[in-house]
Amino acid sequence: MKNRDILAAWKYHDGTKHSYWSIRNNPHYLDWANRPLPFKVFPKIEPLPLPREVPQTGVAALSSISEPLPPSRADSIPDLQDLARILYYSAGITKHRKSSGGEIYFRAAACTGALYEIELYVVTGDLPGLDAGVYHFNPADVSLGVLRKGDFRGNLTQATAAEPAVAGAPMTIICTGTYWRNAWKYQARTYRHFGWDNGTLLANMLAVSAASGLPAEIVLGFVDAEVNRLLDLDTHREVSLCLVPIGHRSESSLPTPRETPALGLETIPPSQREVEYPAMLEMHDASSLESGEEVAQWRGKQPVVASSTPAGEEVQLQRWREEEQPKDSIEQVILRRGSTRTFDKTASITLAQLSTILDCATRGLAADFLEPRGTQLNDLYLIVHSVEGLIPGAYFFRRGPSTLKLLKEGKFRAEAHHLGLEQDLPADACVDIFFLANLERTLERYGNRGYRAVQFEAGAIGGRMYLAAYARGLGEPGLTFFDDDVTNFFSPHARGKSAVFLLAIGKPLRGAT
Ligand SMILES: Cc1cc2nc3c(=O)[nH]c(=O)nc-3n(C[C@H](O)[C@H](O)[C@H](O)COP(=O)(O)O)c2cc1C
Repeated sequence: MKNRDILAAWKYHDGTKHSYWSIRNNPHYLDWANRPLPFKVFPKIEPLPLPREVPQTGVAALSSISEPLPPSRADSIPDLQDLARILYYSAGITKHRKSSGGEIYFRAAACTGALYEIELYVVTGDLPGLDAGVYHFNPADVSLGVLRKGDFRGNLTQATAAEPAVAGAPMTIICTGTYWRNAWKYQARTYRHFGWDNGTLLANMLAVSAASGLPAEIVLGFVDAEVNRLLDLDTHREVSLCLVPIGHRSESSLPTPRETPALGLETIPPSQREVEYPAMLEMHDASSLESGEEVAQWRGKQPVVASSTPAGEEVQLQRWREEEQPKDSIEQVILRRGSTRTFDKTASITLAQLSTILDCATRGLAADFLEPRGTQLNDLYLIVHSVEGLIPGAYFFRRGPSTLKLLKEGKFRAEAHHLGLEQDLPADACVDIFFLANLERTLERYGNRGYRAVQFEAGAIGGRMYLAAYARGLGEPGLTFFDDDVTNFFSPHARGKSAVFLLAIGKPLRGAT
């Protein structure tokens, strides 16, 4: 089993670390003339327009993030309007702007470089308003393109070794990653971005599904080749990353798997030339699951044991009461969200705001690799610059009791500037949140696929933080970082952990874009 040879994940991780010197010595530049198209286009498929005027759920953003619906035995069947709402608020175009490199179509969820390498597909039985089939979602004209007609849900049940949420779902959304669209800028580091960018999108998808009254969860355990074949992917260019079963139907008989002949559908090439980065293809191959038995075994093992929690003085975070929170709906918050480009460095946020964001975002994600619910692979470390009621310094967040442990006191804006790739945003924010994971333990438990899981979880929690921050009137960008310097900064507490993700929270500078 390739997945058990975890040297592959270490090789990829170590080979794609950023350091002060790796950034300076990289001759890579952006070839604007060869910039990839931001959409996958099937020119010969007649688009099936999705409804654009869909009723809003009106559910408060903070409730929809923090209270995912538990798996239910009652039937909850999405209709075409639910599907349109979920797709649009996960990956739809919410703004566009002209830039020197051309038009940029900004989407509902944050994405590294605004390159939007995550594609969405829908595998469904007959739904109110939509025939059973396999569809591709095109955000450019808010339409579906039919790839296969008929009910192929049995293929997903088989590929996931009968994962209960998938087996009972009236429809499942499949997220894929297209290497070149992101690698044009980020080269081999794109494989990490798959998890981050898919994760932020998943935060929206789970929240909008919950607000629509539909259970949804993230499924990472599946036989890769079977799902890729169903979507007819050219796996040198695009690969399936995760499944999101949505809704529940108690059917007496499940559809049986069907033949999936090659489709050979024409697509418009994204660029004149594409560069292949073998390190990513190797990482993907090494983390692929090859049979139903392997999937079942992968899912069934014991969870990763939580990090040790050394005693010491800790600050209790404030409990937040829903009735005191802003009531903006999840849709309003998603439309308002946009990464902060300049922070007001004289501003501060309250402990109550920080508490809400940390608590909402870290309530157990619904994911097959996080069982029992509430398990978390990433640990959160903070650099606090200006949060009312907290001494500036470096902290460790403990989820269960919801406390912050002061690791070292100090004003660390200069250090944050360095750790966040020498950008102003982490230095000018009120707080920076770093995600670090014990990769050794995670890879031991999940094999190479644990590397995917760690990145996905960070992206999804980061995406929830985006939503919670904007719901509380604050701003946030995701950020990238100098890997080993982050670990060193938080050591000895963080010794042995790897840097996975970074985001900054603060108040956007008024009038800045
Ligand atoms: C994981 C992640 C990392 C990011 N890293 C940076 C960064 O290092 N610097 C930066 O200015 N923006 C960063 N961004 C913000 C993106 O540039 C931004 O999401 C993208 O341009 C889309 O714009 P929007 O978020 O306003 O919709 C990051 C976003 C994500 C999701």
